[in-house]
Amino acid sequence: MGEIIKSIEKYLMDDYSFFTTPGHKQGKGYSNIENLFRYDLTEIDGLDNIHDPYECIKDSLNKLSEFYESTKSYYLVNGSTSGIHIMFFSCFNEGDTVLVERGCHKSIINAIVLRKLKVLYIDRDKYNVDLLLPDKFSFIDYNSKDIIFNDILKIVENNKEIKGVILTNPNYYGIYIDQKKIYSYLRSKNILFLIDGAHGAHIKAFNKSISCVNKFCDISVMSAHKTLASLTQGAYLHVNKSSMVGKVDEYFSIFMTTSPSYIILMSLEKGLYDCVKYKDVSQNYIDECNDFRKLIIDSDIIGVDNDWIKTKSNNNFCYDNSRLCLMFRYGNVHAMDLYNHLLRNKIVCEMTYFNGIVLIPSYCNPQNDFQKLYLNIRNFKEIKYINKIFEIFPKIYDLDNTKAFEPYEVLYKPYEFLEIKKCVNRIIFNDIFLYPPGTPIVVRGEYIQEKHVEIIFEYLKLNYRVNGVFNRKYLKVLEENN
Ligand SMILES: Cc1ncc(COP(=O)(O)O)c(C=O)c1O
Repeated sequence: MGEIIKSIEKYLMDDYSFFTTPGHKQGKGYSNIENLFRYDLTEIDGLDNIHDPYECIKDSLNKLSEFYESTKSYYLVNGSTSGIHIMFFSCFNEGDTVLVERGCHKSIINAIVLRKLKVLYIDRDKYNVDLLLPDKFSFIDYNSKDIIFNDILKIVENNKEIKGVILTNPNYYGIYIDQKKIYSYLRSKNILFLIDGAHGAHIKAFNKSISCVNKFCDISVMSAHKTLASLTQGAYLHVNKSSMVGKVDEYFSIFMTTSPSYIILMSLEKGLYDCVKYKDVSQNYIDECNDFRKLIIDSDIIGVDNDWIKTKSNNNFCYDNSRLCLMFRYGNVHAMDLYNHLLRNKIVCEMTYFNGIVLIPSYCNPQNDFQKLYLNIRNFKEIKYINKIFEIFPKIYDLDNTKAFEPYEVLYKPYEFLEIKKCVNRIIFNDIFLYPPGTPIVVRGEYIQEKHVEIIFEYLKLNYRVNGVFNRKYLKVLEENN
């Protein structure tokens, strides 16, 4: 037997509770499928062809579009990643300028590079970071209203060449921005609004307190595999403008494999039918998330929720209560300690972040998963440790970054490895960041300044793995004559 199969079989010997993707939680959302291999078919007569659908796939896609109220919707078998590439190629031409979050997912940066776009950044991630810090470390004043809208407005008014704005909504932590006002402003300026809704496929069916991410935008993607019962790689793409459909069809046929997995397609349809089924059910797993948060309310761990985020941000942000983001109230515990404690007790979390852990539940988690989680959170004996990382964040958002080249221009330039301390005033070849939160300290094509080097050393001193630093000692910089 091969290494991958051996590892999976070893893993499966234990009985884990999964609070991580995929949303089907090891098939718990499926009741009557026994041998999946029987369903691994292709575009044979009697089935349909996703590149030219006119039978079962077409009917299923019509239902997808009807449910999400889009102009046209698509099934994707290569994740939101492929949808993001399709969106960028359909919406923009080479040389166009776009405005994106500095801490966006890497598939967006890759799309910017592939489409050869010029890029400007919104520093939204500083709010994500601040909202999840204990109050004593907070560094943002939320007195003003519509802060993301105003940030966008300011940049757009000063950069008339912007063709599109791309936001992630909700993000990994579940933090959500109301898109309505932003969309109406961008429409008035003829600027396209793209949404990376990778974490939002479930919202329309399960969380009525926020609007579905594909509603107030021109085009969006959703990773159905993250929060619905679809297989890994299954995603939805939604277009809201009929004038965009021709281009999207074109790029869909370029980026989509000619051999889409019918098993993934089937699971995408299952995700949709689950949404239709649960849409009118009043009780769902969000109630279990809410109950869980109430149970731990008197502990040192906060279960971040809508009230917390709205109050702390002065209503600038809200929260998708179906996500479980746990944060340490006093910032004195290393998130890895909690993550490992839960893993030892057979609970798999999605990820750690600087002040806690993120769990991704779904309607497929059995109820006893939540009880097991509660009992094990209660058993957690924290290891007192001052997590100094909080002190670094404000410095990152205070940096004045200077761009020498666009990200795509850098790709074609020769580079060398240089000791970190010798890199001041050189141009970086790749992004340097801590994941999560993923916000680059310096983005490819920008100058490395004294302050960047200081921050990188501070991270390394705290034993963090800094992406883009090699052997804890070197950076990749452009050769000097560039
Ligand atoms: C915000 C965000 N966007 C896009 C993606 C890419 O999605 P996929 O894995 O479906 O390709 C991810 C994956 O983690 C993500 O978190």
